[in-house]
Amino acid sequence: MIYFDNSATTAIKPKAVSKAVYEVLNSGTYGNPGRDSSDFSVHSSDVVNHAREQLKELFNVPSTELISFTYNVTESLNTVLKGLLQKGDHAIATNYEHNSVIRPLEQLKANRGVEVSYLPFDKNTGRLETEKLAELVQPNTKLLVCTHASNVTGYVLPIDEIADFCHEHNLLFIVDAAQTAGYEDIDIQKTGIDILCFTGHKSLYGPQGIGGICLRKPLEIEPLKSGGTGIQSFNPAMPDELPTHLEAGTINVPGIAGLSAGVSYVLDHGTENIRAGVKHLTDMIQDKLAEFPNIKVYTPRDVATTGVVSFNLEDVNAADVGQWLWDEYQIASRSGAHCAPKVHETYGTVEQGIVRLSLSSFNTEAEVNVLLKAIDQMMTESEA
Ligand SMILES: Cc1ncc(COP(=O)(O)O)c(C=O)c1O
Repeated sequence: MIYFDNSATTAIKPKAVSKAVYEVLNSGTYGNPGRDSSDFSVHSSDVVNHAREQLKELFNVPSTELISFTYNVTESLNTVLKGLLQKGDHAIATNYEHNSVIRPLEQLKANRGVEVSYLPFDKNTGRLETEKLAELVQPNTKLLVCTHASNVTGYVLPIDEIADFCHEHNLLFIVDAAQTAGYEDIDIQKTGIDILCFTGHKSLYGPQGIGGICLRKPLEIEPLKSGGTGIQSFNPAMPDELPTHLEAGTINVPGIAGLSAGVSYVLDHGTENIRAGVKHLTDMIQDKLAEFPNIKVYTPRDVATTGVVSFNLEDVNAADVGQWLWDEYQIASRSGAHCAPKVHETYGTVEQGIVRLSLSSFNTEAEVNVLLKAIDQMMTESEA
C-alpha cells in the first residue's frame, strides 16, 4: 500500500511519536499537568512545557505563554475568529480557504452580523490576486485570515506580502498553517503574523487530536470554552493569563507528547531538507503528468508549493480515478471535493472533483515510480 494522502493526515509517523504517546499512557507516572505538585503532575507539566519550548523555536514565538494548545486547527480557528469578531466587524479571507475558516466566518455572518469578503485567485495560474486586496478593505475591517497553502493544489500564498498589507491597514493577520507547519519556514515575528493556528497531525507528524494557537503578542480573545484550569478556582471567569485563558479543561498530554516527538523530527531534519526531499518526488510526478496534454494539472510549477500534486484526466470523475488508483495499485489519494468549496468553484470542479496526491518526507522514489507506472497504464487504458 502506498500512502499519498498526507495533506489529510500523515499516516506514517516517526517511530518516536508512538513511543512518546505510549510512554505517557503506559508508564503510570503522568498525571494532570499543572494541577498539583506531585511528580505525576510535574511529569506531565514537563512534557507540555518542553513542547511549548519546541514550538517557540519552530515558529519563533516570543514566549511560551503565547502558545495555547487546542485539539486541532479547526478549534484554533474557531477560537480566534469567534473570540475576536463582534457585530459590525468585517473580515477578509480568500477563495483558497478550507471550511475551517469559511464555516466559522459564515456562522458569524449569520449569527452575529459580521461582514466577510473573499479575495479571489487566478484560475489559470493559481496566483492570489493580492492587487485587489485594497478594494476589499472597509472602515470596519478588523482582520484578515488566510490559509498559508491551499489544501487542494498546494499553492503557497504570499504571506509576507499579505502581512505587509495588514500592517499598513492596521488589520490583525491570522494564518491557518494546517498545510505548512513543519514544512514551510514560519517565523511569526519576522513575517508579522499576529496569530498562527496549527494542527499537529499533518506535517508536524504528531497524532490526531492536538493543535494550537501561537500569538505574536498578547491579544484579547474571548475564550471559546470555559472551565477548569487548575488555577484561580474561585474566579467565575477564565483566568486572563495566557496560555491558560484559552485552555479550559484537561489538555491532551499524550497528544502533546506525540506532537513533541514529531516536532523534534522536524527540527532535527530541518524544514529545508524536508522540502527538498518532497520536492524531488513531486517534480517526478509533475514531469510524468506533463507528458499528457489531456491531463490538467492544478498545482503550479513556477511558484512555491507544498507536497501536493493535483490533477484531472479530461472530464473523468476524480473519485473514479482515485478508486482506480486504489483498486489497481493500492495507492491512496484524496479524490473528490476537499473541504475548500471556493477552490472547486473557481476551477469549475464542483461536480468532477480533483485528484490530489500529497506526499510527506516518508514517501520514497520507489513509491513514486509505482505511481508513474500507474499513470502510464491509466493513460493507455483511457486511450483504448
Ligand atoms: C488548510 C486547512 N485548514 C484546516 C484544516 C483542518 O484541520 P483539522 O481537521 O486538523 O482541524 C485542514 C485539514 O485538512 C486544512 O487543510
